[in-house]
Amino acid sequence: MLDFFGLKEKPFSKTPDPKFIYLSDKHKEALARMEYGAEEKEIIVITGEIGCGKTTLSRKLLDELDEDKFYPVVIINPRGSAGNFLRNIVKLFSKRDPKYYKKDLLEQIYEILYSFYEKDITPVLIIDEAQLISHKEVFEEIRLITNFQMDDENLISIILLGQPELKQRLKRGNWEAFRQRVGFFYHIGPLDEQDTYKYLEHRFKVAGGTYMPFTNEASKIIYSMSKGIPRVINHLAQNALLIAFGKGSKYIDKEIAEESAREYNEWS
Ligand SMILES: Nc1ncnc2c1ncn2[C@@H]1O[C@H](COP(=O)(O)OP(=O)(O)O)[C@@H](O)[C@H]1O
Ligand SMILES: [Mg+2]
Repeated sequence: MLDFFGLKEKPFSKTPDPKFIYLSDKHKEALARMEYGAEEKEIIVITGEIGCGKTTLSRKLLDELDEDKFYPVVIINPRGSAGNFLRNIVKLFSKRDPKYYKKDLLEQIYEILYSFYEKDITPVLIIDEAQLISHKEVFEEIRLITNFQMDDENLISIILLGQPELKQRLKRGNWEAFRQRVGFFYHIGPLDEQDTYKYLEHRFKVAGGTYMPFTNEASKIIYSMSKGIPRVINHLAQNALLIAFGKGSKYIDKEIAEESAREYNEWS
């Protein structure tokens, strides 16, 4: 099928590969803010619906950050206890064995962060799926870690990525102390209709395609069905390519897009 469309690889796979990233204005803005957060050693919170591109952006950020100046690490499953969280930080940022008691752990983390400071390297902690943080104490530890300072400067940048409920949760209840440490919140909205067209074209071409197989009408159908969420766009587009291949058509027109949308509806 790839040969049929003149492709070298699958254009609409599920993996958050930064090579395929299409930077809509919203993604550009989110990435710029993540870079800013990394530089300014702040806590920042980025939210977005499932499949809007948070993990992909985090991978892109890892590619973008200068290795001589930043040491980024990613926590992808922040479900554990506060103790686990702190031990994880020790392991991710150093080769040391984490201490047992919390007081010792915090001291150890301070030493690790301080040694980065001496080398003029900024440690960047990216927490993906931060809406899964179940232990309230983890937020408390995040805050404590950002309390470590040297010459009035924080010692670590923290980027929380999560679904919209993360923000809701932080807005409610007694998170005042944590909220006050957050530099800013940013929400990644869905793609608009024009972006969806460009997104489809972009991914197809990155995969080796040399033309735009989706007609305007097809792109419109994919947009209205997906509401501009990249994960759903991928699904619809991938399926549309399969249908077109079955029909021997190199183009995805209105009918094929509608068929793909119908099938998506049946399965979801
Ligand atoms: N800006 C983008 N450019 C290209 N592909 C994207 C973009 N945003 C999301 N995707 C694709 O959509 C799917 C879901 O993205 P992902 O980053 O996993 O979303 P999230 O982490 O927000 O749930 C992945 O296949 C990813 O490659
Ligand atoms: Mg993700």
